[in-house]
Amino acid sequence: MKKDFYPFMLEREMSIWEYQVKYNLSESGVQPMTIEGLAEGDPHFIESLLATSLGYPQTNGSLELRDQIADLYRGATRDNVVVTTGAAQANFTSILTLMDPGDEIVVMLPNYMQIYGLARNYRLSVKTFSLKEELGWGVDIDELNRVVGKKTVLIAICNPNNPTGHIMAVEEREAVITAADKVGAWILADEVYAGSEHHTDEVTPSFWGDYEKVLAIGSLSKAYALPGLRVGWVMAPEETANEIWARQDYVTISTTMLGNKLAAYALSTEVRDKLIARTRSYIRRGYGNFERWCRQHDDLVSLTPPDAAAIAFVRYHREANSSEIVRRLINEQDTYVVPGDHFGMDHYLRISYGLSEDYVNEGLRRIKEILSST
Ligand SMILES: Cc1ncc(COP(=O)(O)O)c(C=O)c1O
Repeated sequence: MKKDFYPFMLEREMSIWEYQVKYNLSESGVQPMTIEGLAEGDPHFIESLLATSLGYPQTNGSLELRDQIADLYRGATRDNVVVTTGAAQANFTSILTLMDPGDEIVVMLPNYMQIYGLARNYRLSVKTFSLKEELGWGVDIDELNRVVGKKTVLIAICNPNNPTGHIMAVEEREAVITAADKVGAWILADEVYAGSEHHTDEVTPSFWGDYEKVLAIGSLSKAYALPGLRVGWVMAPEETANEIWARQDYVTISTTMLGNKLAAYALSTEVRDKLIARTRSYIRRGYGNFERWCRQHDDLVSLTPPDAAAIAFVRYHREANSSEIVRRLINEQDTYVVPGDHFGMDHYLRISYGLSEDYVNEGLRRIKEILSST
């Protein structure tokens, strides 16, 4: 067994605690949908679900589903789409396809730490550039330009960003594309939070179509509130999509037949609009409530407002280490949030507000208890 394996602490700890604590404010999506809610007012869909034959679907995703996903992206066809077991597998298989050990990857930080950890375990040479709180969680473009160089094979970004909720401005997007173009690097854009915007009903535009060497990663887990379906996808130039599919043959073969069927239903125009509207209403209502709490407790925390997603990356005004604070939160208050440590940034907590208001408020009250007594 390799001794220096770099574990994915964020996912592992969330998985341990999310069903053990009473108040779990670690979730980055909103209250998940039920199948009943998804099919509301459409008994025929439930009937067709019950009649589904549980064979293997086409292994890169059903034609119907790939057509619907392609419709979300400018100029794409089903041949650009590989349906994966969540965005998690899309990220994993994409990196394995495009990179060899020793290759250089440039990763945005903070970030969902999957690609960062995967890159270390896969012996890639990892460089980073930052989103800075003093820039409203904007990209430090000078740093980006300093770290991207001739050896860079791929730049990994997350937009809208987990954990900060930042949506990149036009200048930031252009800076990433220009930096990649200069050295012929790929851009892997993890866009799973597109559709969960706070201030606009316009879905955050994809990097797809703005530059040739883009892999755009999407998912039904966040904006569509269907994480348990485990359906995500990667958009890639056709030849690359085929290469990614070839790796998938070895890992999972395919996603599930039920997943493909439910995902295609979720992405049909009417249902899709309903799901996104539901997510936005959870997020917008929840954020107002959460922001009030932050203002009331500005001696304990400060908040740089997120633009999207059901999470905020909150700085707390205490010396104690974030993992220690979370440990106390679990032990003394039966509550869990993600410590900044898991993003390589101590003195922050990632807190979720996309769940029901009473539940969030009780969780926040418990966080206040711990911070006040620290
Ligand atoms: C940025 C980002 N990418 C990918 C994932 C994994 O998503 P999925 O449930 O589609 O595998 C997450 C989950 O939190 C995420 O935050």
